[in-house]
Amino acid sequence: MLKLEGVSKRYKGASVLAVDNLNLEVRPGEIFGFLGPNGAGKTTTIKMVVGLLTPDQGKLEVNGHDLARDPLAAKHSIGYVPDKPDLYPRLTGLEYLNLIGDVYGVDGATRKQRLDHYLEMFELTAALGDLIQSYSRGMQQKLALTGALLHQPPLFILDEPMVGLDPRSSHLFKNIMRDHVNQGNTVFFSTHVLEVAEQLCHRVGIINKGQLIACGTMDELRQASGQVGSNLEKLFLELTDAGGYDEE
Ligand SMILES: Nc1ncnc2c1ncn2[C@@H]1O[C@H](COP(=O)(O)OP(=O)(O)O)[C@@H](O)[C@H]1O
Ligand SMILES: [Mg+2]
Repeated sequence: MLKLEGVSKRYKGASVLAVDNLNLEVRPGEIFGFLGPNGAGKTTTIKMVVGLLTPDQGKLEVNGHDLARDPLAAKHSIGYVPDKPDLYPRLTGLEYLNLIGDVYGVDGATRKQRLDHYLEMFELTAALGDLIQSYSRGMQQKLALTGALLHQPPLFILDEPMVGLDPRSSHLFKNIMRDHVNQGNTVFFSTHVLEVAEQLCHRVGIINKGQLIACGTMDELRQASGQVGSNLEKLFLELTDAGGYDEE
């Protein structure tokens, strides 16, 4: 579903690599959590996976398509919700969704059926005729999510999806991720919120300073670090070298 081999990226003028020789495989049908502290390289990695940034080195494969050789097919099989959705403020919600539906070639009947489902769930139906610039941040996130799922992508990618959502919306987002894998798809999302990862993920990868420092199920990570029974927060702090942090 998603495979990264030796992927590296250094931003222009930066002295260190933002992503450093990353190897990662996300398997079909799993919810994979990409964990790491601020600045670890999560967003940079995701932007390379969705084709917004070009890696300096390495190979990316999405749903069997090599991203460098067959970028269009790769991108067509992805749905992506960025950390700060950059929607078109002067379009209405409905105009935006129809634009996305056209880009991905979703036919009218299918489009209507899927939109009805998500818009009702998100209570966005009444706002559809309003300009996006009048939407709250949460509403914009929900609109972005609806657009990203409109073509039912085999691989659904979300960058810090829970930030800025109220508890009800965040609950909805989690259910949607679960539904998506239950329908045979794959979800890859980044977060620095450990509880979310613990609740949702089949496997997690932990990235720190651009390098993958751990990968596996929670149980595997606990065992590997000899911390059987310890909680995720302790493990995370230890692995990301913040062990001196005061415990509450
Ligand atoms: N556009 C950019 N230009 C230069 N450096 C950047 C840019 N975006 C991110 N970085 C740097 O790359 C590193 C990884 O950042 P990022 O991928 O955003 O991390 P995360 O999403 O895990 O918080 C950080 O050191 C950050 O400062
Ligand atoms: Mg980020």
